[in-house]
Amino acid sequence: MSKHQISRRSALKLFGAATATLAMGGIVPITSCSSRKEQKLSKKRLVFFFSATGNSLYVAKCLAADGGTMLSIPQMLKEKDLNFEADEIGLVYPKYREIPEIVKEFLTRATFKCEYFFGVLTYGRHLRNDAQTLVDAMKERKVKVDYVNGVKMADNRLQRFDMAQELKENDPDKIDAAIAAIVKDVEAHKQYLVEGEEGGHHHAGAHPGEARHHFVKADEMFEVTDACIGCGICEYVCPRGCYSIEYDHAKAGGMCEQCLACAQACPQLAIAPTEGDANPKARYRNPNVSLRELERANSQKPL
Ligand SMILES: Cc1cc2nc3c(=O)[nH]c(=O)nc-3n(C[C@H](O)[C@H](O)[C@H](O)COP(=O)(O)O)c2cc1C
Ligand code: SF4
Ligand code: SF4
Repeated sequence: MSKHQISRRSALKLFGAATATLAMGGIVPITSCSSRKEQKLSKKRLVFFFSATGNSLYVAKCLAADGGTMLSIPQMLKEKDLNFEADEIGLVYPKYREIPEIVKEFLTRATFKCEYFFGVLTYGRHLRNDAQTLVDAMKERKVKVDYVNGVKMADNRLQRFDMAQELKENDPDKIDAAIAAIVKDVEAHKQYLVEGEEGGHHHAGAHPGEARHHFVKADEMFEVTDACIGCGICEYVCPRGCYSIEYDHAKAGGMCEQCLACAQACPQLAIAPTEGDANPKARYRNPNVSLRELERANSQKPL
């Protein structure tokens, strides 16, 4: 097993079937995703995550290694009781200009009680005022944010960027070093808000419950080509349940988060974004994350 992987048995226990009850019930042990000498967390840590192509899932695994609990936000949204209490609570998600809609929805419904609250964003190009955006969003939940940092990883916006190039250009050792530094910071309860670059987007609309201007219609966002073999992977990786299989052909419908999980995961390269495709032959998934892990994290249908 590579140093980046967790055992399959542990992965199955982790996030797909996890419920708020399980989260409150205690720590789910997993093997470390890093080569650090293991030391079981003495504190209870919950790591909530959303991930379309595995970058944020990998970071969440590293933060939950050594005894934390990973909880998938798309799965959590199926639960009624979203009141969480732990020593440390963290949120890991990809930067989508600001906070992904699905994460905002979770923040709108959930309450958190903890000693230390942290956020880690994965991003492909630049961080802007993202730390402040999260601080403001959490203020509405009456939660003080102690730490926000980011990890630059492959940029999964396949309309604009060639995924083959993104894989080549993002050095896994550099990424692991950045994640290890964040894990250390969180363990030390460091107080820190990462400063982004100038010229960012204003964070209007970033607060939970505000206008949802990033949803689009799935059937307008993508065309499913004749290459589709009806395998159903898109159904399982979509966190919004936008796909159904009819007569062995996938059909997109409903409100889409624009996360690109479907197009990136299709083994037939049959999901074509209508607004361009930098390299229709190249798709991306974080090399430390399996398709099964993404399905378990995102599926809105029983697996
Ligand atoms: C809809 C969308 C918007 C994005 N916006 C930004 C952005 O504004 N800045 C940036 O650096 N990366 C942006 N990205 C890239 C992702 O944040 C990045 O690839 C992230 O690591 C993907 O995480 P995941 O693999 O966990 O889904 C965007 C990606 C998507 C799908
Ligand atoms: S993942 Fe691709 S091939 Fe499989 S059902 Fe969806 S569109 Fe078709
Ligand atoms: S249709 Fe594709 S891009 Fe839209 S929410 Fe589902 S997986 Fe994400």
